[in-house]
Order: sequence, then structure tokens, then C-alpha cells
Amino acid sequence: QPIKLSDYKAPDFLIPATELAFDLAPETTRVKARLTIKRQGAADAPLILMGERLKLISVAIDGQPVDYTTTDETLTIASVPDQFVLETEVEIDPLNNKTLEGLYMSSGRYCTQCEAEGFRKITWYLDRPDSLSKYRVRIEAPKAGFPHLLSNGNLLEKGDLPDGKHYALWEDPFFKPCYLFALVAGELDVLEDSTVTMSGRTVDLKIYVDTGMRDRAAYAMDALKRSMKWDEEVYGREYDLDLFMIVAVRDFNFGAMENKGLNVFNASLLLADPTTATDADYERIESVIAHEYFHNWSGNRVTCRDWFQLCLKEGLTVFRDQGFSADMRGHAVARIKDVRALRARQFPEDSGPLAHSVRPSSYVKIDNFYTATIYEKGAEIVGMLKTLAGPAVYRQALDHYFEHNDGTAATLEDFLASFHAVTADNPQLRADLSAMIDWYTQAGTPQVRISQHYDAAAKTLTLTCLQVTAPTPGQPEKKPLPIPIRLAVLDEDGAPQAPFNTPDNVSWLFILRDAQAEMVIRNIEMPPVLSALRHFSAPVTLHLDEPQSHAFARFKGDSDPFNRWEAAQGLAKAIMLDEIPDEALIDAFAQGLEATLRDDRLDDAFKALILGLPTEADLAQSQSPIDPAFLHHNRKRFKAALSLRLHDTLRDLYNALPVANTFSPDAASAGNRALRNALLDLLLAGFDLSQNPGELTLLAEAHFKAATNMTDMIGGLIALTHVQGAPYQNALDAFYARFRHEPLVIDKWFSLQAAAPHPDTLARVQALSHHPDFDAKTPNRWRALVQGFANNQSVFHAPDGGGYAFLVEQILAVDAFNPMTAARLVEPLSRYRFYAQPYSENMRQALQMITAAPKLSKNVLELATKALAD
Ligand code: ARG
Ligand code: ZN
Repeated sequence: QPIKLSDYKAPDFLIPATELAFDLAPETTRVKARLTIKRQGAADAPLILMGERLKLISVAIDGQPVDYTTTDETLTIASVPDQFVLETEVEIDPLNNKTLEGLYMSSGRYCTQCEAEGFRKITWYLDRPDSLSKYRVRIEAPKAGFPHLLSNGNLLEKGDLPDGKHYALWEDPFFKPCYLFALVAGELDVLEDSTVTMSGRTVDLKIYVDTGMRDRAAYAMDALKRSMKWDEEVYGREYDLDLFMIVAVRDFNFGAMENKGLNVFNASLLLADPTTATDADYERIESVIAHEYFHNWSGNRVTCRDWFQLCLKEGLTVFRDQGFSADMRGHAVARIKDVRALRARQFPEDSGPLAHSVRPSSYVKIDNFYTATIYEKGAEIVGMLKTLAGPAVYRQALDHYFEHNDGTAATLEDFLASFHAVTADNPQLRADLSAMIDWYTQAGTPQVRISQHYDAAAKTLTLTCLQVTAPTPGQPEKKPLPIPIRLAVLDEDGAPQAPFNTPDNVSWLFILRDAQAEMVIRNIEMPPVLSALRHFSAPVTLHLDEPQSHAFARFKGDSDPFNRWEAAQGLAKAIMLDEIPDEALIDAFAQGLEATLRDDRLDDAFKALILGLPTEADLAQSQSPIDPAFLHHNRKRFKAALSLRLHDTLRDLYNALPVANTFSPDAASAGNRALRNALLDLLLAGFDLSQNPGELTLLAEAHFKAATNMTDMIGGLIALTHVQGAPYQNALDAFYARFRHEPLVIDKWFSLQAAAPHPDTLARVQALSHHPDFDAKTPNRWRALVQGFANNQSVFHAPDGGGYAFLVEQILAVDAFNPMTAARLVEPLSRYRFYAQPYSENMRQALQMITAAPKLSKNVLELATKALAD
């Protein structure tokens, strides 16, 4: 039943032209398809098309009825000519399509989601990404309620029809796979703008949103224009149609979708204004707008041969959007956030039962592989290719890739071939770049250990580097991978030593190719402090054999902000994992923190990140077996200890930070708010031990009440979670009363409560699952509550298993109508083997309850079975 990469075979038929005609009706939409088909495979190969939940009305070849057979998933015509026109008509039911895949309705509007295999829920087709076709689409619907009729490409015609209906005819001049098809119809407001591309063409830009929401699309429009410009300047990529449209929908299974010329977005990643969106929302919107736009080249013009190559478009596009965000918001802060996300989501995946390589070799449901590994680790691999090649050669390789694969469905080998093609003059680089293929095929996070020996007399520092990758399911043996490690040697104050003859005079790149390597660094005058894996130059776990004083030196003064942050993280982790608090170490950390906070050369966003401290989930990755109650207790204890020690400093800095009168979403303003909220949170973390809890309560309440934007309002609510009781509840109630008609804000209201680390949170979450505003059929609302809860370590991992039982109940309920979304929440249970008892056994039993359930979807079954497998 699994589909295997090694079984890939090119399709027997091509579909050079696809004509679709939609007659839209909520429960009885008719879809006529007229496909021009040509044989390219064996002369006797039957035509086999994919389809699901389609009510077949008619099938004809060249106008004549034909014999065919169908199953739940296929339509087979045993004998067909070498070239013919296939006409089919089907009926579908968008209104009752709660899978949110194929054609469905959201708030009275029609919309589609086809990636990966949703097009087969619209019509019979060769639903595979290597089947490229030119589309012409006619949409017909009542004028009332459906004034806008949208599809990919250019609008050819629009007109009235009898009986109060109208139609639109769209044509997309570019070949595309069917997963990029889109259709939207309904009542929408549109924000219009235009831009001029680098070759001087004018492109109309239109963002369609719920009526009344036009002003909230302004930031997305601005981000879109900046993305288009950036892709021209940095990658030389120009937009290719005269029209670019984006539509925001409320009911969507994930973030957004790059349909050619007609991106569809989850409304939560598009709509923003200061009173309803946080700075984090603005940041996400900017990056997702860029991501989907960048897919126009990395994904659409050059698409994937098969779904095993998913990271060809996703890893590359994430790397591109990260580059954009870094340019918009600052490289150091952006890098820290990206690494934090990688470690939070990808590292656990890569070490658990669901580990898979960035290019998997088999799958049951491809929807289960839209993972952090394929996206984020995939992006890291592209980043390493760039680090190895250098920016200029990287750009040449990308130009080569886009030029030589334009209009085709490519593979990772094609991508690497472009690096090969532009490095003929550098055999060593060429060899390193080719060896990078192993990063795509081998799962697991490499562990790198560096031990050091300083010979003061000889002034040499000898480093010994080792790498090892633990086995993952199906891959017992691991090879060494090429690991680019950026290194510098500092002195005990963190200042660089021994100017190296390198571009920045501070650091150099070492490539660890084998399981072990040794190197000797000369002219080291002073006792050295190593700064390794600077800017997180490879997605590995680094162990440095060094005294703690070295980490303090980097915390104090490493010129690489990433490693400075990393040093603070490592020290904080060590403190929190201590059984008994090490007061001297906490003092030293508090001093380091104070020096950082008072350092005028550092920006606010960076300081806010340092104040963030490792999460309970971060700590869990360094504990074996994991004891969530212990981690929660120790983290809380440490934050309280810091809060008491630094109370006056935190208070002074908090008071000293200016509060802007008008809201601006720019990076500096957002950094300022982030710092102010982080200071407040740490102040309130001392609540339980404070001499003056009343004063802290007033401070948090005042912050909440004075807030003029959503970021500060949420900051106030989070601060009040330390207080609990009436002040917390009153703020929640006021928040609800004010925003009850704003679904995106009510999502936040649900997730905040689910994330509160209170003993009564499970009961509250259970009650919220019966709240009139709770709706499991809207993924945003369901995830707000259930995912928010599953990420709340100490509450989800209740020792009696009550948290797991709630999750199982929710997964099974949603699996009945939306398997794709349900399956995404199996992961929190999957790593049961890493937990202490009774957690481990309770998690295993929860997984068994899932697999024992009747009528489970393939999606959930695949993940739960893998999680339980030995
Ligand atoms: N291609 C989309 C994006 O990265 C995501 C599609 C997700 N599809 C899925 N079946 N999970 O922007
Ligand atoms: Zn993508």
C-alpha cells in the first residue's frame, strides 16, 4: 500500500490541454472536463485517471460513448487511441465537503485546495505533478451572491447569462500541474494596486477578502510588493502574468497555497490591523506572502516530478522567504527565530518514530509529509549549499536551475546538477556539493562533538571533531555527511583572536566530511574560547567539551549574535536541568542578562529573544527520560529566581521604554514592543515569591488596559496568567466582550487559555470545547484550542493521562470529516518512548485507542501506526 520513490514511472499519457466548465451549485456543482490527451508510453497502456467522491454523469472519447470501469479511486478505459479528446461530466457537493480539499464552501463562498491530491475530488484526471497542461476554465454561477468568479491566469471574457446567472472565462498561458489549479467564487471586497516589474511590465495586484475587511489587506499588499521587488533584485526572478490575485478564506487546512496567479490564504495569515493582529502575525504574514509569491518560480515555473521531491519546491522556497525576512527584519534576529522553530519542530521529529528523510522513499498519504523536516530542514540544506558555494556561485547555480528546468517537473538531482554545472573550475567544491545529496536521503540530526586542547607554549589549539547520526526507522546505518562548521577563536572576553586571513578576519569555514577530523590552529596567544557553528551553519546538535566559563565568554561578547544567544540558551538550560538550583550559577547568569539588557549596541528584538529563555519543550530535548512536571517546576523556579534578582533592573528598563503613540508594524517598533512585553513577563514571573504581589498585579493590569494594539494586549494577558484568579479572568472576559465578533481574535482567546500553565487548564479546555464559539469544522478554531493545549507541556502531560484522552477524543472527532487536519495532531503523542512513567505508558495507550478506532482515515492511521511501530 505505501507508494515508493523507486517505483516512479513517467505517465503513459500527456494532457497538453485542459478545458473545464463549472456550473456552480452548493450541493450539485457540475464539472465538465474536455482533455486533449496524447499517448507517450506503451501502445497498449490503458488510460487510468484518478478521482474521488465524484458522481459520474458521462464519459466520451472524440464525441463517442466508451466502455470504462471505475473503482472508488480510478476510472479506467482499457483501449484508447494515441491521440484523442476525452470529455467527462461529474457532479460534486462543495457544501458538504468538510475535508476542505478539492472544491468546498467557506462562509458561503466557493474555493479550492488541490495540493497535493485534491484535484481528483473535482474531476477525473492524471492527478500527478509531472502531468503539465494548459488550462482554460469557464465558471458559471448566479450573479446574486457570486459577483466574483476567479481562476488562474488571465480573464478572457465575462458576461451575463439567462436566469440571473453570469460566467467568466479564464486562461492560464503557462503549463502547470493540476495541484496549482484554483477557483474562487463569491461575494468579496477587493483591494487593488499595481506594480511595474523589472522589465517595465505593469502587473495588477488584487487581494480579495471578506466584505468589510479591505483595510486589513493593506499590509499584505505592501508585503507582496516588497516580495516582488526582492525576488527581482536578489534572484533575478520576474513575475510573468499581467495579474496577481490573492484570496483570504477562513476555513483552510493550513497556511496558504501558491496556485498560479491566484494564491489562496488562510485569513489568519493575511488580514492584519493593529487592534486585531500581533507583531508576530505581521511577521508571519510578511513571510507567507513572500513564500507563496516566490513559489511562482520555485514550484510553479519549475515544479516537482513527483511528491517525493516536495522539498525541491518547499525547502528552496522556505530558504528564499527566510532570506527575504532576514533582509526586512535583521539577519541575526531572523536566524535565531528560524533556528528556534527548527529545533522546536524538526529536531523532535527527526529523532522520533516519524523521522523521515527530506526526500522520503515511501509514503501512504503525502499530506502527512508537509512536515518541518521537508520544509525547515529542506531550507537548511539549501542554506548549506549556499554556504559552501558562496553567494556568487549560489546565484549562478540558481539562475542555471531556473533557466534549464523552466516549464518542467524536476528532481533534486536536477537541482544539484545546476550546482555541478557552474563549478567546473573548482573540483573540491564540486565534490562537496555533490555529496550534499546525502543530506536529502538520510534522516536524523547529526550529533557533532568538538573537543579542544590548547598548548600555551606552542600557541596551538587542536580541535577534534566527531560526527554521528543515530539510526532512524528504516535506516539503521548512517553515513557521515558534509557539515559546514563556521568557526572563530575568541579570548576570555569574547573578543576575536588571531586575525585569520578570511573575508571577515574573524571566522572561517571548516567542512567536516568524515566521521572524525582533527585540526591545529596556530598563533593562539591567549587562552582560547571557541565559537563554533556560528550563525548555526548546519542543522546539527553541537556538543562542545569546554568549561562553563567559555559559554559565559560568548554570552558576554561573541561578535556572532547567534552564538551569543546560543550561549545564553545553553547556560539557562544547564541551570534549569539541575536537580538542585546552583545559586552561584544563577547569579552569574543574572549578571550576564543584566549586562545584555543594558547594552545599547544590541537591538530590542535581540534582547527580547535572550529574555525568552528555553521553553519546556526545548528542555525536554535534553532530558532522558522526559519528566514534564520536573521541567515545568524547574523552569518556573528559575524564572522566579531571575525575576527576584533583577526586579529593579527589569522595572527600570520597562518604565524607560517609550510607548509609541501611533502603531507601526516595522521591525524596530515590533522589537521595542517585544522587549517591553518580555520584561513584563519576567517581572511577573516573580509573582509567587514577590514581597509586593499587589504592585505586580497592578502593573500587569495597567499594561493590559493601556494597550492600544493586540501585541500589548496579549502581553498583558500573558503577564496576568502569572497572577491567575480574578485579575486574569476579568481581563479574559473583557477581551472576549470586546472581540466577540472578530473570529481571528477569538481564536487567540481560545489558544491563550489552552496555553495557560494552570492546574485547572484541562477542565477549562474541556469546557471551551463546548463553548458556543467552538467549531471543530473550522481548522483555525480547532487548532487554536487543541493544538494550543497539546503544546502546553505541563498540562497536556497530566500524570493521569487526562490530557491525552482529550486529544484522542478530538482527533477522532475531526478525523470523521477532515483527516488532513486531524492527522497533524498525532505527533504530540508519537514520542512516548522518550517519556518517563506514567506518561510513556499513558501516551502509548492513547495511540492504541486511536489505531483501534473504527473507520480511521489513512492519514491518521499512517502516523499512529508509525508512532507505535518498534
Ligand atoms: N504548498 C503550500 C505551501 O507551502 C502548502 C500545501 C500544503 N498541502 C497539504 N496537503 N498539506 O505554501
Ligand atoms: Zn510552500
